[in-house]
Order: sequence, then C-alpha cells, then structure tokens
Amino acid sequence: MGNWSIEKMTGHCGARLRGVSLQNASQSDLIQLREALFSHGVVVLPEQHLSPEAHIAVAEFFGDIDVNRFFTPVPDYPMIAEVRTSPSQKAVIGGTWHTDHSYDPAPAMCSILSARQLPPYGGDTHFASMAAACRALSPGLRQMLMGLRAWHSDSSFADSKVGLDAKTEAFRDPVLHPAIIRHPEAGEPCVYVNGDFTTHFEGWSREESAPLLTYLYAFVTQPIFTARVVWEPGMVAIWDNRLVQHYATGDYSGHARLMHRITVKGCPLEGVTTTG
Ligand code: SIN
Repeated sequence: MGNWSIEKMTGHCGARLRGVSLQNASQSDLIQLREALFSHGVVVLPEQHLSPEAHIAVAEFFGDIDVNRFFTPVPDYPMIAEVRTSPSQKAVIGGTWHTDHSYDPAPAMCSILSARQLPPYGGDTHFASMAAACRALSPGLRQMLMGLRAWHSDSSFADSKVGLDAKTEAFRDPVLHPAIIRHPEAGEPCVYVNGDFTTHFEGWSREESAPLLTYLYAFVTQPIFTARVVWEPGMVAIWDNRLVQHYATGDYSGHARLMHRITVKGCPLEGVTTTG
C-alpha cells in the first residue's frame, strides 16, 4: 500500500486517506482507492488541489461520467458540475439528506467533490451509512422492505430554491428501485429510499407511503450511522451513492462556497431476497 494511510472517521462510515496524490495517481493507487470507497462508503483526501483535468481522469477510472442535467457546468468543463452558494443565497444545493441521481434508471455510482472556495466556517457535509442502517432495522421491517420497490423522481428540481435553472426538457419519467438494494460490488444490503427523490412505494399511495418513508428517513440518518466531513482547502471527498446518503450543511449565510462535482454512472440496482 505504499505510503498510504487510512484512518476510519467513525464506526460505520468514512475514512481519511493520506499519502496519495490524486493529481498523479497510479493505476494501483486508484484500485486501492476504489477498495477503500467500497469498504468505508466515503473517502476524504486532504490537500489535493485537483485540476479539472485530474478530476475528470480520476472519475473516468471509476466509470463513465454521468453529466448532471440540472446543475450549472463549470466553464470550459461541461463534465464537471458547479455546486455553488452565493453569499445572498438562503438555501444550499444538497441541503437535505439525499442520494445523488436516484431518479435515474441506472443511478450514479459515486460522486467526487473537490473544494474550490470554502466559507470561513461551516459548510460541512454529513454522510450516513445505508448499509449500517439496514443492518440495524428490525428483522420484521427489513423483511417487509425487501419485498417493496419505491418510485424515485427528479420532480423536486422543479421548485428549486438553490439557484438551479431546471429546464423542462431535463425532466424524465419516475423510476422504480428496490427499497433495499444489494450493493453491486460490496454485496451488502443497503436501504435505498431518500427524502429528496423517493415519492412513494410501488402499489401504495403517497399518503400510505408517507408515514413509513418519514420513519425510515429519520431512522437511517441517526447520528450513529453518520460521519461529518469538515472541509479544508483543496480537499476531495468521494462517496458511493449506494452505500451512503449525504447532507450539505447550509450554515454559512453571507459567505460564498464553491465545489466542483463529478458523478460517475452506475448500473441498474438489484433487490435483496435474503440478508443472510
Ligand atoms: C451534493 O449534494 O452533492 C453537494 C454536497 C456539498 O456541497 O457538500
């Protein structure tokens, strides 16, 4: 493992990696990075100061880039999305618990966020392990969820209060995913419903779905399942959208924040028939 060091951030998710430069990462570095990602759900790499070209190269190691159809692209780099907060903005992009791109038929595998401009305080990103949350469900509820699929929709972008200019042609039909998926690489069962994009369970009305979904959103984001990333200049975080949900903290009103994000394409998600 060369000069790498991996420090777990909390009991259930997150690891801080030191001693690797993504700017000139070798194939073997990237393979270890991917292993760390599947083990910890989110990996944080300080002091990277990634160029847009290196950001794209790291993303392409993981797979094809999934260009986000709602975010503003970085000038000259259409594959990189801006996650920008202006000082006058009240709400921030990603300021509620969510899973990137769960509204797509083959939802994004991972997201790679690179800090470009940070506020003087705040703006941390929280992550919650959907594998740990799934393990902690009672056997009865887990069994019931294993038999359910849920609808996911990008419709919440229609009333964006975070400076995203959602064009009508960007919206797509809702898609169904199992409520508990088996992670395609790590094999772990993970809860796969989220407050931004899941609308209701298949065969259930929205009203019938709401109490159980509300319970699940509170259950899966309990502090015990989470890790908090406190950003530093030049830091990069990579998370697996099937293993974790995330939440951007909007507590730096009056200050600017700019992150560059690339999401990488994933695959259709399979359900779980047995957790044994
Ligand atoms: C996101 O939701 O992808 C953005 C996270 C952040 O800005 O911290």
